[in-house]
Amino acid sequence: MTTDMQTDFLVIGSGIAGLTYALKAAKQHPSRQVTVITKTRTDETNTKYAQGGIAGVWDEENDSYGKHIEDTLIAGDGLCNERVVEIVVKEGPERIREIIEYGARFDKDETGEYSLGKEGGHSENRILHHKDVTGKEVERALLEEMKQVANIQLINHCFVIDIITQHHLGYLVTKSTPDITCYGVYVLNERTNQIEKILARITLLATGGCGQAYRTTTNPRIATGDGIAMVYRAKGRIENMEFIQFHPTALYEPGVSPSFLITEAVRGDGAILRNRNEEAFMEKYDARKDLAPRDIVARAIDSEMKRTGTEYVYLDCREIDREKFLRHFPNIYEKCLSIGIDVMQQMIPVAPAAHYSCGGIKTDEWGRTSIQHLYACGECASTGLHGANRLASNSLLEAMVFGHRCFLDANAQIDAIAFAESIPDWKALSTTDPREMILITQSQKELQQIMSDYVGIVRTDVRLERAMKRLDLLFTETEELYRTTKVSPQLCELRNLITVGYLIVKGAQFRKESRGLHYNTDHQQKSELLQNIIL
Ligand code: FAD
Ligand code: SIN
Repeated sequence: MTTDMQTDFLVIGSGIAGLTYALKAAKQHPSRQVTVITKTRTDETNTKYAQGGIAGVWDEENDSYGKHIEDTLIAGDGLCNERVVEIVVKEGPERIREIIEYGARFDKDETGEYSLGKEGGHSENRILHHKDVTGKEVERALLEEMKQVANIQLINHCFVIDIITQHHLGYLVTKSTPDITCYGVYVLNERTNQIEKILARITLLATGGCGQAYRTTTNPRIATGDGIAMVYRAKGRIENMEFIQFHPTALYEPGVSPSFLITEAVRGDGAILRNRNEEAFMEKYDARKDLAPRDIVARAIDSEMKRTGTEYVYLDCREIDREKFLRHFPNIYEKCLSIGIDVMQQMIPVAPAAHYSCGGIKTDEWGRTSIQHLYACGECASTGLHGANRLASNSLLEAMVFGHRCFLDANAQIDAIAFAESIPDWKALSTTDPREMILITQSQKELQQIMSDYVGIVRTDVRLERAMKRLDLLFTETEELYRTTKVSPQLCELRNLITVGYLIVKGAQFRKESRGLHYNTDHQQKSELLQNIIL
């Protein structure tokens, strides 16, 4: 029998989304408890690895909300929720100001104005950045600010297994149950090695993306889609998972995972993509050339690699002024040098890598999910901002805007919500240690192989069918392992990745068209019917 832990605001995830919300909730309610849970080290998040920066209308002389909205809608290829786009673009600058007040330092030019970068799909320079390590700076500032707030409890190395709903009270919960309610979560506390329950008045999922479903990804190991899988298991709504964004330019380094990103801002500063014959090729594919939206550039690279029989193309930075490159991209310069590439003399081998999940847990414009008392924001959520393809550097912005909006709504609800009673302890299905942990690792590799081979940048009906059959087998084997061995973070992550893989394939099978990031050669046209796929 474990003791219940209770907290008013429970936050799963310590990236930009979770911390933005936690800080606001704690400051607004000094007498209430805010608890932030994170599965490994506190700062090990996708947020920490963000490079290019945060998009926002800053230069009011040349830029406007209208232009940022237009660019977001064009990238989203018809599927953005226009109201949400307007909210994020218009509320974004205020949220950026807040993070600057927390101490985030963005680069300035010689005149003392913020130096604004440009990336694919943006018609203006509007990206605030801290060299090429913006995410690290943002994460640092948020964690520093947290130290000033007494009522936030941070628990790291604590793995959330599932959200607690009526299902755990013994009720039959189906997709049509109208009031599925979240009462808190079951966690595997790695310090005690026990499964404990944490009850909450309100729970926020800010669990990030799922790039680890693919063999080649820019996402760190933590990005296993846990929040998305938990909500799906709890019969909540998941949307548009087929829109997985592949970043066009990850450093090609066979055997190294995750892949090191070469930020799009390098192309914003003039770098050019070349194929194996050293020909610049982007003008063949789009009038915006190297700065076309990501889906177009990634597909163009994929097509050049297939045509010339190589596993990479080149990014040529040799024409960029050396001093400018070193000032803006010191981390990339050092990384390339460490593997023998002087980017001022040699071209960088790059290839697309799974990077961002545009779909996720369906929310409304206040971050409310289809489950009562459960909010979601950041990369795990599908707010409608990105549509079929996210505009570069809109993700950190969305996480801050929706972190704030979730807080506003939760703030209005919290007094009326009581803790649930009589929540049972976790029922362990087995106490046996898995005889071969390697089976879990191998299954994860198999999953990544299936997703990369059959559900990558270019899809076909046959490939999707093949992926589903293979996922089915992995699912059966893994559920068996889950029933018969002790729960571990590795096993839970594998289960979650298989669920996410299933959701991506299922979404892709339902979408009988090519739009944004979803390109199926058997359905190359865009359907006239604008449709979100909800599972
Ligand atoms: P994350 O920052 O990923 O945080 C997730 C948190 O959830 C972690 O604390 C993790 O431990 C926790 N968690 C997950 N599952 C569990 C569980 N089961 N139990 C307990 N805790 C759990 N976007 C931009 O806008 N601009 C950029 O320049 C940019 N560059 C990028 C570069 C790279 C290399 C990558 C990978 C992404 C980049 N992105 C960028 C995307 C952006 O960084 C992410 O979308 C964003 O940081 C996600 O923030 P988040 O708070 O939603 O999740
Ligand atoms: C990059 O810096 O190219 C990544 C930006 C993003 O994913 O938004």
